[in-house]
Amino acid sequence: MTAILNPPPVRAELQQPGALAINGLNKAYRIDGKPLPVLQDIDLQVLPGEFVSIVGTSGCGKSSLLRLIVGLEREYDGQILLDGEPVRGTRLDCGIVFQDHRLFPWKTVAQNVALALKNQRLAPREKAERVAEHLALVGLSGFEQAYPHQLSGGMAQRAAIARALITQPKVLLLDEPFGALDALTRVRLQGELQRIWTQQRSTMIMVTHDVEEALYLGDRVIVMEPRPGRIRHEVRVDLPHPRERNAPRLQKLREELLAELTGT
Ligand SMILES: Nc1ncnc2c1ncn2[C@@H]1O[C@H](COP(=O)(O)OP(=O)(O)OP(=O)(O)O)[C@@H](O)[C@H]1O
Ligand SMILES: [Mg+2]
Repeated sequence: MTAILNPPPVRAELQQPGALAINGLNKAYRIDGKPLPVLQDIDLQVLPGEFVSIVGTSGCGKSSLLRLIVGLEREYDGQILLDGEPVRGTRLDCGIVFQDHRLFPWKTVAQNVALALKNQRLAPREKAERVAEHLALVGLSGFEQAYPHQLSGGMAQRAAIARALITQPKVLLLDEPFGALDALTRVRLQGELQRIWTQQRSTMIMVTHDVEEALYLGDRVIVMEPRPGRIRHEVRVDLPHPRERNAPRLQKLREELLAELTGT
């Protein structure tokens, strides 16, 4: 990590719990000894409790950006602040749901979800109750004792969502969380996610390839472009939550965004 010279002053609301401030972020990977620029000049401010969607073509650096925010990547130039503090590694109050579920194959669904609580001082009964509650939330009641290989891809992803939610993180990053789900489950889980978000008021940043989903859930949609990954622009979705899926305003924004992404 290299600090940027004279970082801009951070606004007071961006120092509150759940706030994210990214300034002048650049990231390159090394492939075969040569630097591969992946993210360039990323500036992104997210207020506590905001829901931000990120869309962009495959390979434009969306997952890399989330890994940097959650503290899994330590090499970058620029500034990434959570609650006004530089990110120095992973932390309990910033959770992530990966593109692939990453459940431990040798543990049951309930054990996988309970693992997220391992450092919390809770009585075993309370832990079990919280696990059951969160599995119910994602529609997995009855599958507590199943192993990941006994689940469908979508069910495994839902278990991963339960695992991320159970610690009630102030910031939750979601990397195409519903990508593997059928259309109906997807719509149901979008509703659930919206409900959880309104209740917990955690900050949520969700990467998705689904423009409709991005607009339906997001207060803002960040559009990224590739090689190297940059923020092209953002769309503000000025509609109150919960939203009407076929609201004319959403339809119009969807058409505009699709046209932009497909260059039509
Ligand atoms: N660990 C790594 N080492 C080297 N290069 C990497 C690594 N991770 C990602 N990259 C490269 O960084 C670029 C961005 O990858 P990233 O996974 O962030 O894209 P993405 O926008 O999430 O794509 P997708 O929509 O397909 O998930 C790609 O060119 C990829 O090859
Ligand atoms: Mg990705």
